[in-house]
Order: sequence, then C-alpha cells, then structure tokens
Amino acid sequence: MKNLVAPSILSADFSNLENDINKLKYSGADILHIDVMDGHFVPNITIGPVVVKDIRKVTDLPIDCHLMITNPERYFEDFLEIGIQYISMHIELNRSIKKCYEIARRYKTKFGIAINPETKTDKLKWVIDIADYILIMTVHPGFSGQAFIKEASLKIPVIRNMGYNGLIEVDGGINAEIAKELRELGADIIVSGSYIFRNNIKEAIKMLR
Ligand code: DX5
Ligand code: ZN
Repeated sequence: MKNLVAPSILSADFSNLENDINKLKYSGADILHIDVMDGHFVPNITIGPVVVKDIRKVTDLPIDCHLMITNPERYFEDFLEIGIQYISMHIELNRSIKKCYEIARRYKTKFGIAINPETKTDKLKWVIDIADYILIMTVHPGFSGQAFIKEASLKIPVIRNMGYNGLIEVDGGINAEIAKELRELGADIIVSGSYIFRNNIKEAIKMLR
C-alpha cells in the first residue's frame, strides 16, 4: 500500500495559484489533484488544459487531472500533451473509456477510472485490468467542502476482492480522522481540498498521511 496525499487545488486561491501550489509542495504534498469540470457532467465549471499547461510550468509535482466532463475523448490528448502523470475519467461514461485508455498508454500516463458514490462496483469489472488506479468518489462530484459519504468508501475492500491490485485513490470530504479509516481499508492516495486549505497546510498533510 502507498501512503500518498494529493491536495485538490479546487480549494486554493485561484488569484494566487502559484503561491498555493508552492506551499503545497513545501508542505509535503505528493501529487497535485486538479478537478476539471465542464458544467455538464457535473453542475460546476472549473479549469481546462490552458490553465493546467501553465500550472505545469510552475511546479514539478506530479499532476493528477480528474476529468468530470462528458466528452473526455475530445480533450484527453490536450491534457496528456502537457506532461501530466495521472489522468482519470468516469466509469459512468462507459463508451469512451477504451479510446482514452489507448491514448493514455501512448503517453505513459497513469490511467484512472473514477466512480461516483451511487454507481455500483460491478460496473468496474471490465476495467480492472486496464486501470492503473481507481478513484472512489466519497461525495457527489462538483464541489469541494461537502460531507463524506461513508458507504462509498466501503467499495475499497469490494474492489480488492474483485482481484484489483492497482492503486486506489479516494476523493471527497476527507479529514485526518476519515483518512485513517481509509488507509485501514487500503486506500493508497488520499485527495483532500477544504480540510487542507482550512488548516495549517503542512500539519494537515501530515495528519492525512
Ligand atoms: C469534487 C472534487 C474533489 C474536491 C475535494 O468534485 O472531485 O476533488 O475538490 O474537496 P474536499 O476535500 O473539500 O471534499
Ligand atoms: Zn477530484
């Protein structure tokens, strides 16, 4: 099991993003989690490849783009060209997974599959062999600062029992206490936004680990 912390910049100050990213880096963050939303797959709009490209210039932290967009295949290559290390798309968008997987392989970027709280784990059966990581959403995607949905986290042992050996990332409503439970369940990467930015960043990352 890995013990990684991936702060979500959704809770950062976008008017001074470079400063917040540097703070995350020097506070021990392992991965930068970037939430990409299109106002269609989820009821919020955030940032796209243009901004991710500039973020790439100011940090050497591994970048993890969590795509919450209806047409990932249309933008996949734009993200990968930037030189990011992780990219995920949602299982709820069944049809474009194969195509996106092939693109990710060409770029040697880790390919993740995200699953919403209400989506059943059997949907993941066919992607277990192609996913480098599975991102379990423990809030309904769209916003930071929501309450953790515990039942969704119980998918961790279920997925392991399905024979999945890759990385498991958990995202949404996570604080130090919850992170501890998630690690015990077998989570490798903890994503956290509001908990990190509402507290002392260094201390919060340490607690999440
Ligand atoms: C929600 C995003 C999360 C979110 C996490 O749609 O995918 O990454 O920013 O923020 P917190 O930790 O505040 O729930
Ligand atoms: Zn996310």
